[in-house]
Amino acid sequence: MRSLRNQSYRIVAIPGEGIGPEVVEASLKVLQQVANLEGFTLNVDYGWLGATALEKFGSYFPQVTAELCNGSDGIVFGAVTQGGLLELRKHYDFFCNLRPIRIVDSLVHKSSLRPEKIKGLDILVIRELVSGIYFGSAARGSDEKGAYGYHTMLYYDHEIRRIARQALGKAQQRRGKLTVAHKENALPNLPWTRLVQEEATAFPDVVVEPMLVDNLAMQMVMNPQRFDVILASNLFGDILSDIGGALVCSLGLLGSASLNGDGFGLYEAIHGTAPDIAGKGIANPLGTIGACVLMLEQWGEKRAAQRIMAAQDRVLAQGYRTADLSPQGEEILVNTEQLIQLLLEEIYNLQNLEIEVLHESYQ
Ligand code: IPM
Ligand code: MG
Repeated sequence: MRSLRNQSYRIVAIPGEGIGPEVVEASLKVLQQVANLEGFTLNVDYGWLGATALEKFGSYFPQVTAELCNGSDGIVFGAVTQGGLLELRKHYDFFCNLRPIRIVDSLVHKSSLRPEKIKGLDILVIRELVSGIYFGSAARGSDEKGAYGYHTMLYYDHEIRRIARQALGKAQQRRGKLTVAHKENALPNLPWTRLVQEEATAFPDVVVEPMLVDNLAMQMVMNPQRFDVILASNLFGDILSDIGGALVCSLGLLGSASLNGDGFGLYEAIHGTAPDIAGKGIANPLGTIGACVLMLEQWGEKRAAQRIMAAQDRVLAQGYRTADLSPQGEEILVNTEQLIQLLLEEIYNLQNLEIEVLHESYQ
């Protein structure tokens, strides 16, 4: 996959609905700040998707949005309640969904697991994003037994092989271990184990560990530190990555990158629209900001990415918490805007040396 590195980038921001607009606006402020400090320019166009797009343009994924996205350097996406997102992922063939699950040191004691079970946790979930049961033939119908519905989990072998190569490549750059989620005791026609093992011959230093997905879900809770890279199909990866949210204290912290074969990407938090808190200005923007960090890394803007991560760690270490992180004792409750102001200050104050020292782990 290509890595850009330009003086100037154009992104398309798609705020969507619910808390989407709040977390996207917040993330753009942070992006603009690092752009200024690192000396590149960022041009932002706004696109429409989902219910708001349907209202305005008569389609969940309108042509105007596609035209804006074409030729851009990345899409920063908020959230939608229904329609558009799966079409967008499919349209650009964003098959490779990266969902890093890392614990922030200062939150270790807030996880639902004991601190010693999650200290240093650093898992990369790689989810196949444009095939499988989300896109297989599906319908509702009825026959003499009654009304029914079905969705088909279909994978071409070549689709499994291409995501396997991405996952093997990532495992090779990390700790060399790839756990493959499968369900071959019940779904033997989807031979993830064999296909990944065949691809793995080109990656001799990666240890491939096939694991039944039900067991994998249990192991993620019982013993999460044993994992390095986890490869999963579309549906399994969706479910397993939410367990990741529980491990690191809040789904609101996790961002993701969805890339196609050219390295073009869609960057979004893994949470949804959170209608219960939408419009209140209290959403946690760190998931979408985490996604933007992945975008910067994809562009090769490593220092900008490190700056944000280092600033985030500092703000959290000082005890500032959005509501989803249920502040207690000495911790300080902040809303979205307050958190962003704190982040902007920290980003500005960080000296070069500190960025390097603080954020070696994010390289
Ligand atoms: C996610 C979300 C989406 C998915 C929904 C909103 C369709 O849960 O990105 O994890 O299932 O892919
Ligand atoms: Mg999900």
